[in-house]
Amino acid sequence: MTQPSDASTTISMKSGGYYSTRTKGAKDVIDKATPLVLNALEALDLGGEPARPVGLADFGAADGGTSMEMIGRVVAALHAKALGRPVVLTYSDLPNNDFSQVFLNTQGLGTAGEHLKDIEGLFVFGSGTSFYRQILPPGSLDLGFSATAMHWITGAPCPISDHVHAVGAKGAELAAFTERGMLDWATILRHRAHELVPGGRLVLVNFCIDEDGRYLGNTGGANMFDTFNMLWQRLRDRGTITAEEYRDTNFPQFYKTVEQFRAPLDDADGPLRGMGLSLEHIETQIVPCPYKADYLTSGDLDAFAPALVGTLRSWSETVFMNGLNPARALAERRKIVDAFYASYEDEIRVAPDAHAMDYVHAYMTVVKAAA
Ligand SMILES: C[S@@+](CC[C@H](N)C(=O)[O-])C[C@H]1O[C@@H](n2cnc3c(N)ncnc32)[C@H](O)[C@@H]1O
Repeated sequence: MTQPSDASTTISMKSGGYYSTRTKGAKDVIDKATPLVLNALEALDLGGEPARPVGLADFGAADGGTSMEMIGRVVAALHAKALGRPVVLTYSDLPNNDFSQVFLNTQGLGTAGEHLKDIEGLFVFGSGTSFYRQILPPGSLDLGFSATAMHWITGAPCPISDHVHAVGAKGAELAAFTERGMLDWATILRHRAHELVPGGRLVLVNFCIDEDGRYLGNTGGANMFDTFNMLWQRLRDRGTITAEEYRDTNFPQFYKTVEQFRAPLDDADGPLRGMGLSLEHIETQIVPCPYKADYLTSGDLDAFAPALVGTLRSWSETVFMNGLNPARALAERRKIVDAFYASYEDEIRVAPDAHAMDYVHAYMTVVKAAA
């Protein structure tokens, strides 16, 4: 069988713990999902096979730091509900992810506290396997979680002529991203359907375009992706980067609407229904940019501008680095990308009230029918 391609060569979060220390907002997004995850746990029937370990997984976990407190609460609730049952927790991400930071975090040696340290009966594993493949053995996953990861598609289906992100794509280019995004979503769900036990659940928290057309960094004021695009175009127009490099810089991402998330799960005759999957719950939520909130309280622009750029950089830097011609020396590529983010910081300093990165997510629970 040919393995699907994935975007692992072009994306990764900044490593060495940078990701979770610079993405306070992503943790806020996950903390907000805690009641949904605890409800999903409550609904699990763990009575049947007392010897079978309970399977938990975090798909697209990065360094694990942002979800660790929430997972600690889930494991505690699980132990209370299923006394004596071992719990197998799998952190998965792309193979180039910084897994050593995941393990430092789970052992309480990283930057994420001691939420999972020394919990008896908890067995932690890592898998550097894309969620576009089956990661876990069939029928071994009771509760799967993923946050802010499944907008990364298997690759950009085409260059976007006048933008760096599908939110700015039009016509045939938008159609190509939509088709790829929808195919990829169905693939993710199909693999999870194999992994889930009957009656198992997924709580998935994904970037979305909400009912009012809002999405990450586009909730009023400056549009973050338009700002990225404007500054990258400026480097092209000044001759710092070539037209080819501008064209080759595309986020391999697709943000779905609620209708698009629902589509394969609502299709009564579709393959996912045949595998027992259905949507139990979906709602959209906005989590305000924590760095903007701090700025509104403190008025400290010298703290706000670098903090906002730091969080943008934690997830976007590899896209801009990889858009540059690899024939350029690494130091030269770094210099260009540093200048690019410095120019974003300048934009913030000129009009701080216009800039923020509010998070816009769809929170959903998917259930696999009980046997
Ligand atoms: C923005 S981070 C989110 C990390 C964490 N879940 C959170 O919410 O803070 C997105 C993560 O998804 C991972 N990712 C992207 N595509 C993936 C894929 N195909 N399979 C597994 N992980 C993937 C990235 O490597 C990255 O670590």
